[in-house]
Amino acid sequence: MGRLDGKVAWVTGAGSGIGAATARSLGAEGATVVLSGRRREPLEEVAREIGAAASVEPCDVTDPAAVRAVVERITARSGRLDILVANAGVNVVERDWARLRPEDAAAMIAGNLTQAFHCALAVLPVMRAQRDGVLVFTASIAGRLVKLLSGPAYTAAKHGLVAMGHALNIQEGVNGIRATVILPGEVATPLLDKRPVPVPAEERARMLQPEDVADLVRYVVCLPPRVTLPEIWITPTWNRLHLAELDPAGMPRPATPPWE
Ligand SMILES: NC(=O)c1ccc[n+]([C@@H]2O[C@H](COP(=O)([O-])OP(=O)(O)OC[C@H]3O[C@@H](n4cnc5c(N)ncnc54)[C@H](OP(=O)(O)O)[C@@H]3O)[C@@H](O)[C@H]2O)c1
Repeated sequence: MGRLDGKVAWVTGAGSGIGAATARSLGAEGATVVLSGRRREPLEEVAREIGAAASVEPCDVTDPAAVRAVVERITARSGRLDILVANAGVNVVERDWARLRPEDAAAMIAGNLTQAFHCALAVLPVMRAQRDGVLVFTASIAGRLVKLLSGPAYTAAKHGLVAMGHALNIQEGVNGIRATVILPGEVATPLLDKRPVPVPAEERARMLQPEDVADLVRYVVCLPPRVTLPEIWITPTWNRLHLAELDPAGMPRPATPPWE
């Protein structure tokens, strides 16, 4: 018996990385899993691994009508929707202020923040009627820390996503609905291929792996309905952000601030 037997979960960005690992992990716990992403192929591959309890709904989550249509099909088929993992996200290589294009800035906000509103707004009426539901949003430590590495548009969008999760809990807890925003540090997924400075394989091997975040999502959604975890950080122990502040001997790197 799985802890999610009888539950229906919708995972976005489920064709790769954290979303694929999460779909597998919720499926292994007994949930009926619906996988979304823009490309059908990778979704079908992951669904095949999970088995009969998985199905695919290719969808661009930046399109609110397409998102609503997916939720309508899920509820028409299953009669319920218990778990949303709004995990899809994007970044671009040319992300710094000198190279960021207005259309890319808009795509970062749409692809990391606005789409999560579309997904939440589509599932909330179903969850309110059930008086039960869990929403998990994959943000990033860039949702709390302002660093140049992630780029200003991604950073701003993920800050917005963290705020959105907290705001959701304020109003929807009375309806039995809880939201968790997860803030991962570096995870070895295809998203790293968009880094302006390539990330070597040996460094990816020391980071968080998609399964680490998927395990956390599974933990969150299996908690009793009375428990809400509004915000969780999960970071690699070998943390390149921290390493940047240390010298080779592990001591704080001497700073030479411009005011000295
Ligand atoms: N990897 C990291 O270091 C890291 C750290 C912190 C947070 N995150 C966050 O973790 C989440 C998952 O990313 P990942 O690292 O697992 O990278 P990933 O493998 O690139 O996964 C992102 C997924 O989102 C899907 N997607 C992107 N835009 C979409 C759209 N408009 N509609 C539907 N699906 C869309 C992509 O599939 P299609 O291209 O087929 O649509 C892809 O499967 C993202 O929100 C990311 O910001 C990642």
